[in-house]
Amino acid sequence: MGKIKTYFVCNQCGATSPKWVGKCPECGSWNSFTEEITEKSNQPQNSTSKNYQILKLRDIKGVEVDRFSTNIKEFDQVLGGGIVKGSVVLIGGEPGIGKSTIMLQIASLLSRFNKKVVYFSGEESTSQIKIRASRLEIEESDMDVISTNSYESVDEVLRNNSYDYAIIDSIQTFYSAEINSAAGTISQIKNITHSLVEIAKSLGITVFIVGQVTKEGSIAGPKVLEHLVDTVLYFEGDYNRGIRILRSVKNRFGPTNEVGFFEMQDKGLKEISYKELLNSTNNLPGRALTSVMEGTRIFLVEVESLVTQTFFNFSKRNANGFDTNRLQMLSAILEKKGGLNIGNHDIYLNVAGGLKINEPAADLAICASLISAYKNKPLPESSIFIGEVSLTGEIRNISNTKSRISEALKLGIKNVYAPGNLDEKGIESFRVDNIFSLINYI
Ligand code: TYD
Ligand code: MG
Repeated sequence: MGKIKTYFVCNQCGATSPKWVGKCPECGSWNSFTEEITEKSNQPQNSTSKNYQILKLRDIKGVEVDRFSTNIKEFDQVLGGGIVKGSVVLIGGEPGIGKSTIMLQIASLLSRFNKKVVYFSGEESTSQIKIRASRLEIEESDMDVISTNSYESVDEVLRNNSYDYAIIDSIQTFYSAEINSAAGTISQIKNITHSLVEIAKSLGITVFIVGQVTKEGSIAGPKVLEHLVDTVLYFEGDYNRGIRILRSVKNRFGPTNEVGFFEMQDKGLKEISYKELLNSTNNLPGRALTSVMEGTRIFLVEVESLVTQTFFNFSKRNANGFDTNRLQMLSAILEKKGGLNIGNHDIYLNVAGGLKINEPAADLAICASLISAYKNKPLPESSIFIGEVSLTGEIRNISNTKSRISEALKLGIKNVYAPGNLDEKGIESFRVDNIFSLINYI
């Protein structure tokens, strides 16, 4: 027998190296490399004995995507209109955010619709699951529950029963005896997911895979998992207020960046309307509203900021739910193009409800919030600010202005601050073509 060949894999990003290294050259994590055995291929070299078929594209029959609606509107929305039969969905999130809770709730709901559901838990014993189920008032559910860490058992159960849905909670706790490394390592996760995808596609079972996210915000081995599955959902949110936002970052069967809003209550996750993220007491200095588009959805988001004199040599820029670099850029534009003297001030910015804004349309609202906080003057009541701020201090138009305004109108917004000529019924518009005119309005 020849010498066993090994290599080293980073458990954070999946980078490989022939030798052990202390710091990953790809992602910079320390002490993340573990040794794994190079997998041997048992397949004969020359195995192309006609297991393919060439088809004309026009002759291929199209298939309707078979969706199942869970009746939880927010959950269906994130999936693009319901659960697609035979798809593999990865649900990621930090520990304690509510992945197991939502999966148990969905599982019991599906079994109430007479679907055959099995819940594999590698983290909890069956009695712990029962306690959770009692709390969620679903302890009489018909679904099957298995507490195991062995992937071979999962495989056997799925192949020998005709389940419609399977839940794997969580992928990091399962271990396949075929792979020579510990549970949770890249090669375990990758191989198990691979095999689950194969089962899902061949048997038409819909599989939900729960994935633990590390503090840095990535599922251990995220890249390897993300491209294997059909849909990737992430849980984010404001822990203190119990707000949970489910977001699709990849979806083969629907739009990405679709979001759903939930609140963690004492009897599990309940869907809520995004309006509950907004604070009702308005009009304090530093608070501004904007309109954000995620996936196919448009909703109002509140940003708040605090601007105070710096007492040290170095002024702080701190953002929650917004890119700190972009905040730095916006404050530099306010300083240079708007003549606002905030260079020697600390800036703290927060997006309400634990939401993360990635859209440049929110730039104008963030600038308005900073100006308002700096001048200690509240912004005009019932107003939204939409527009992208460019490096020259000009405000650029953004997409879907009409739909944003009509959503704002539903919530009683009366004024809109935006670039260009807006002629929309029912709302008063204030033209803001550059940072200077924004400062003048405030
Ligand atoms: P959990 O689903 O176990 O998180 P994850 O699987 O993502 O690690 O969520 C656990 C948290 O949710 C825990 O802090 C308790 C809280 N919780 C509620 O507030 N209400 C409930 O009904 C349940 C079941 C949990
Ligand atoms: Mg859990």
